[in-house]
Amino acid sequence: MSVASPETYLADLNPAQREAVLTTEGPLLVVAGAGSGKTRVLTHRVAHLINACGVKPQEILAITFTNKAAGEMRERLEDMLGGVARAIWILTFHSACGRILRREAPRLGYRTNFTIYDQADQVRLTKACLEELERDPKRFVPRGIHAQISTAKNNLVGPDEYRTRVASFYDQTVADTYELYQRRLFASNAVDFDDMLFLTVQVLENFPRRVSAGRRPSGTSSSTSTRTRTTRSTGSCSSWPKST
Ligand SMILES: Nc1ncnc2c1ncn2[C@@H]1O[C@H](COP(=O)(O)OP(=O)(O)O)[C@@H](O)[C@H]1O
Ligand SMILES: [Mg+2]
Repeated sequence: MSVASPETYLADLNPAQREAVLTTEGPLLVVAGAGSGKTRVLTHRVAHLINACGVKPQEILAITFTNKAAGEMRERLEDMLGGVARAIWILTFHSACGRILRREAPRLGYRTNFTIYDQADQVRLTKACLEELERDPKRFVPRGIHAQISTAKNNLVGPDEYRTRVASFYDQTVADTYELYQRRLFASNAVDFDDMLFLTVQVLENFPRRVSAGRRPSGTSSSTSTRTRTTRSTGSCSSWPKST
């Protein structure tokens, strides 16, 4: 399936990196400084999951913050795995969420061809909402109000929940603007950057089976997938001694 063999890529790692790469079951958090070899751990762990653990490339999501970091991961994985790497989702948070939403948006009432508003569009819409609500634009600066809406969304707080927490007239204005802003976005079949994360969380929470089914290769039933996972935890992966 791929060119790299475990002997080769495990030899590229120091003991701490090797331990992280060989820990393939359950969540794993690696904390280490800049330039200490974290990306190398990630790429080698992906290669190991595919080579030694029977994980399919399309079952892996390698996610990071910046396009630069995603590009670096992709390049290194293509060096290690060749064409197989192309089937792996190696993306930024926003692009991964965008890809999920493009398919799943109808579940939330959006059409799949939704528009993504950039920062300038977002502030412009906030300003229009404030005008519609007849709030003094000097007192309620669109950029500032939008920052509050953005923070709420990043904390997964929707307009209704935000309204229950209002503690001042300023908050009240944010709540009113937030609600109108979301209605206007929805009516325009548009999402902002924060929605891409927030709406994807909603999709994953509300329709987890549907989304995971969408990522499975066609013809694979969910019971097959479960068996694969069971096999993986007791099978070829654990045959790699942790002290190699
Ligand atoms: N065990 C290692 N042996 C030799 N070079 C390594 C090792 N781990 C990482 N490197 C190299 O060190 C540099 C930084 O590693 P990288 O994984 O990009 O670090 P980070 O993601 O933590 O910033 C890269 O050039 C990488 O190839
Ligand atoms: Mg890195």
